[in-house]
Amino acid sequence: MADISVKDAPADPLSPEEIRADFPLFANREGIVFLDSAASSQKPIQVIEAMDHYYAFDHSNVHRAAYDLAEAATNDMEGARQRIARFIGVADSAELIFTKNATEALNLVARSWGAANLGEGDAIVLTQLEHHANIVPWQQLAAEKGFEIRWIDLADDGMLDLSDLDRILDGAKLLGLTAMSNVIGTIPPVRLLTDAAHASGALVCLDGCQSVPHMPTDVKELDVDFLAFSSHKMCGPTGIGALWARRHLLEDMPPFLGGGGMILDVNRDGFIPAGLPSKFEAGTPAIAEAVGFGAAVDYLESLGMDNVRAHEIQLTSYAMRSLKERFGSDITIHGPAEPDQRGAVMSMAYRDIHPHDLSQVLNQRQVCIRPGHHCAKPLMRYLGVGATARASWYIYNDTNDIDLLGDALEAAGEFFSI
Ligand code: ALA
Repeated sequence: MADISVKDAPADPLSPEEIRADFPLFANREGIVFLDSAASSQKPIQVIEAMDHYYAFDHSNVHRAAYDLAEAATNDMEGARQRIARFIGVADSAELIFTKNATEALNLVARSWGAANLGEGDAIVLTQLEHHANIVPWQQLAAEKGFEIRWIDLADDGMLDLSDLDRILDGAKLLGLTAMSNVIGTIPPVRLLTDAAHASGALVCLDGCQSVPHMPTDVKELDVDFLAFSSHKMCGPTGIGALWARRHLLEDMPPFLGGGGMILDVNRDGFIPAGLPSKFEAGTPAIAEAVGFGAAVDYLESLGMDNVRAHEIQLTSYAMRSLKERFGSDITIHGPAEPDQRGAVMSMAYRDIHPHDLSQVLNQRQVCIRPGHHCAKPLMRYLGVGATARASWYIYNDTNDIDLLGDALEAAGEFFSI
């Protein structure tokens, strides 16, 4: 075990042991050390039961029928939309569009706002920290429309290099930015970047995949124009995510997918789109998933997002300190050195063991981490590596999990030194 005392650390505002009791997976897989929540979090019983209850008592299609059951299903889904909107500081829930996931939300921005507003001679700006979901949709569109993609580089300290920001933003129409790197944990100064982008006349599309589950989010304070996030990384079900955007942008944007549910009228000559949010929700929506997403937000609110963030800064600090002390130069931890400049992910290299080999040996001790490029190949190229071993934590992890990770790394070191 690491010779690190946490007795001087401030008390953890969360109780991971009590929280774990809410998550059936931990009872069903005794001894598991789940350190892959950046890929997808585990689900509390409150979310599982909310979805079960919906199917057992309230299910029908929504927005389409006059009977009581359909009204119950519609109220369940729209109630969830209101609570999820409030969770990110939005009063008007019609501005919150349900999508399949954050990737679809970002594609919606590119294919609808981007296709209508970007062309030859235009430019958008992305950062070196983005994962593929906030790169590839823009590259696909740029190939069709001929606009330029500029990049904000990374500095040696793992933060964005903002030394040339004004020039990079000059004349750009959009800044696409992650609020927290899924690889090295960097939390960029979103408000500073938003102010700079707006001063240059650019809109800001924030990828909140990794930040919304882990810290308080208020789109008014951040002053962004679009925010994409996913349910499954924040205790909710897979298959649903959300896009929030300012009402006037959504009203001006053309629909993304066509079909039932997104029209006000259709005739042989064409169609009139429905109002918000239906205009962007073609087809039968993920109703049960919306209910589960709403229950996930209720669960996180019951813990308090300030507490979630404080817990994770403490755990990050403990992990960086204890693993460095234990393994010295055998371990490389990528990204910013200060725990409060990072989210709850830690990409590492351990000795010269390939991340995939490392993760297989860790798996023998039920320690779950993610090896690979983390869907962020431009960032991996910048780091000069093909893959990293990434551990990520959440509300149910504690210092014991970090110690068990350390023990497993030590065992892997012994295994590969034979
Ligand atoms: N973007 C997800 C991750 O970082 C899938 O693992």
